[in-house]
Amino acid sequence: MVADAIGIAMLGAGNVGGGVVAALRNSRERYARLVGRELEVRAVLVRDASRERPGLDSSVLTTDIERLMIDKVQIVVEVMGGEEPAHEYMRHALEAGKHVVTANKEVMAKHGAELLGVAAAHGVRLFYEASVGGGIPVISPLSRDLLANEITAVTAIINGTTNFMLTAMANDGVDYDEVLAEAQRLGYAEPDPTADVEGIDAAYKLAILCGLAFGLEVGPEAIDREGISGLTANDFAYADELGYTIKLLATGRLENGDLIASVRPTLIAHSEPLAKVDGVLNAVQIEGDLVGRVLFEGPGAGAAPTASAVLADVLELARDYVFTDREPAPLAALSAARVLPAEAHRSRYYIRLTVPDRPGVLAQIAGALGERDVSIASMIQFETDESTGTAELVLTTHVAEVGALRAALDQVAEAGVVQWVGNVLPIAGASSGAGG
Ligand code: NAP
Ligand code: HSE
Repeated sequence: MVADAIGIAMLGAGNVGGGVVAALRNSRERYARLVGRELEVRAVLVRDASRERPGLDSSVLTTDIERLMIDKVQIVVEVMGGEEPAHEYMRHALEAGKHVVTANKEVMAKHGAELLGVAAAHGVRLFYEASVGGGIPVISPLSRDLLANEITAVTAIINGTTNFMLTAMANDGVDYDEVLAEAQRLGYAEPDPTADVEGIDAAYKLAILCGLAFGLEVGPEAIDREGISGLTANDFAYADELGYTIKLLATGRLENGDLIASVRPTLIAHSEPLAKVDGVLNAVQIEGDLVGRVLFEGPGAGAAPTASAVLADVLELARDYVFTDREPAPLAALSAARVLPAEAHRSRYYIRLTVPDRPGVLAQIAGALGERDVSIASMIQFETDESTGTAELVLTTHVAEVGALRAALDQVAEAGVVQWVGNVLPIAGASSGAGG
């Protein structure tokens, strides 16, 4: 053991944990110069302590959580993932007076407020830069650099797997099932892709961003969410014809004092910077009253990029907090804003419908929409299928309330005026309000 070193314990030594261990070894001297002392990994919790781990002496591996709670450990790095027991272990570490660094979006989204309270009560810190956007700095800018701003909107692409899939669907004209199989073959999508493709992973990350940006505790269940599995190659072709691409946008936006929080496939104009964020890259766009619009873009996952974020937190803790008496800052006051129910969201919308190709159909659809104050901005009839006598319609609307829009579509579907209601997607844009 290196005398006077700062002791690190790790919960997990998998993909991200391996990246952390490798960087601690490769940059050992530089980190020691930055901090003023060496950093030493003194205990690592894993499921299988008999397996060799590159860069780690087998003597530090353990399956006993209590081996991490020793006096010679000042900082606990949680990179095991999942809700439990990670949440319980982080709480235990904070209560034992350890600073904690985590990459765990699920725990921070569901239990972040509670754990930050435990940290404050025990005079230690809980840092979580790696929980959103992998290597992209976003938690720290929201907590520090943009503090002087009132944040009005956060619009983000925060799931690399789905962004890879949507980019391929847009560029190659392929359908969902084909691109999912390709993403799984390349290791971007899990064998069970639900958390990524249904927007659950992005909703966890958005919940964390909303808490910081708007000073509001937003549970992941309060986020309006739709995944990408209902999209087809045709949606991309139609969107392209209208001047848009489709991205899974995570949006938090203040409107008349209410928070709109949603994760949805959204049409976004080709000219927008977020429309050009392709492949597995992530990006977070933040709008503040003083700074205007800033965009952070980069790798949202991967061992080295995520280790970059984890270790930034470790280095700051080691340098500024471990051996000082500095009091942790109080938690941000909670805002009075409420999270707006999903049906009250307002945006411009793209609507795809299959209709019988006969006189009067358009008038009935327009009438049902008009009765509910939904105004049509454009309409294109894309295909007529002579064999079934149906046509495919794509409408875009002016800004409308999605609840009213859906009620109108239900009405025409029930009346047989519309045969099939396809995707209803919000259209992002400054004048219309992104997301929905
Ligand atoms: P991983 O490769 O599956 O590694 C998990 C590690 O935790 C393994 O070492 C595993 O032990 C250990 N572990 C899991 N459950 C345990 C338990 N109940 N008791 C003891 N040890 C346990 O996961 P990862 O990809 O590194 O992800 C870790 C965290 O980082 C997750 O919260 C993830 O969301 C987050 N994150 C990951 C990325 C990324 O690119 N992978 C990016 C951003 C954030 P064994 O090795 O013995 O199985
Ligand atoms: N599964 C996530 C993604 C990476 O596809 O972006 C970890 O947060």
